[in-house]
Amino acid sequence: MTPLQGSQIASVPNQRHDNNSAFPLVYSCDPGAITLAQFTEWVSGNRDELLSLATQHGAVAFRGFPTPSAEDFDAFVQSLGIENFPYAKSLSNAVRINRTPRVFSANEAPPEVKIFFHHEMAQTPLYPKYIMFFCEIAPQSGGATPLCRSDILYSELMKQCPEFAAKCEQAGLQYTNVMPGNDDPNSGMGRSWHSTLGVETKSAAEARLRELGYSLEWLANDCLKATTPPLPAVMEVAPGQKTFFNQLIAAYCGWKDERNDPSAAIRHGDGSKLDSDAVNVAVDLAEQLAYDHQWHAGDIVLLDNTVAMHARRPFQGTRKVLASLAEMQTQSFAVVG
Ligand SMILES: [Fe+2]
Repeated sequence: MTPLQGSQIASVPNQRHDNNSAFPLVYSCDPGAITLAQFTEWVSGNRDELLSLATQHGAVAFRGFPTPSAEDFDAFVQSLGIENFPYAKSLSNAVRINRTPRVFSANEAPPEVKIFFHHEMAQTPLYPKYIMFFCEIAPQSGGATPLCRSDILYSELMKQCPEFAAKCEQAGLQYTNVMPGNDDPNSGMGRSWHSTLGVETKSAAEARLRELGYSLEWLANDCLKATTPPLPAVMEVAPGQKTFFNQLIAAYCGWKDERNDPSAAIRHGDGSKLDSDAVNVAVDLAEQLAYDHQWHAGDIVLLDNTVAMHARRPFQGTRKVLASLAEMQTQSFAVVG
């Protein structure tokens, strides 16, 4: 694929080259070299190549392109020609605010809250194939978005903890989450059950969860405890390329607020407890393999959500990172034996 005239493949600080593959692949643009229309026309004309580069590399970053606003980011997203996955339809537990029909705030959790590595919505039966991030305002300090190649993580985990890796693959994982009755913006997982499930009443919430295969329990203060059906923990994204596609790290380390206890948040699909030593190996591997994307205003990052995990470092000052999801997929898992 030929870069657009005025742009080129570039490098960024701390870029990784595991298995001789740049992570992320970066395109940079010379200041004032192209217009937004030229950029979106190029994206649209090369969308198949760009999407396959996202799968091959895990992430493709664009720096210095003429995309200063949420509307420009929306135009980029539209030019990729991939089907929108509206946040309202997701079963995610984060509180987010829509900015344009396809663009919303990445997470409304307070700046000091660290968000741990995850594949977007891997803890629910519905997830997006692609996630795109955009920086509207770069933070004064901190606030990087760490990215991690999940295929490399999984191949390392198979070497270091083969029994645990096999157990994850064979038994899957299931997640338990307590949702409040009203959105709680102080938590990274404070989305209400009304919003999460798109329902008004308790009976509608029960019907929706049963339809999705969840089990549930009503708690005090209008809180709803929901446990997913067993879900896959490993995905074969291409022949021989397996990724650790799950929410293990974020659930184990980060599903903590006034309603949730991380030690109760995740089990294998057969109900057995996780080997905490092996989980800690996975957590450490993600940090060792991480590339921290330090945002510049106007940056866009396109991720194949089935290949790369993402997270959020704490920050100071104003940080506005927006996101868009595309191509809703479904997942289910049959426990064997
Ligand atoms: Fe996320």
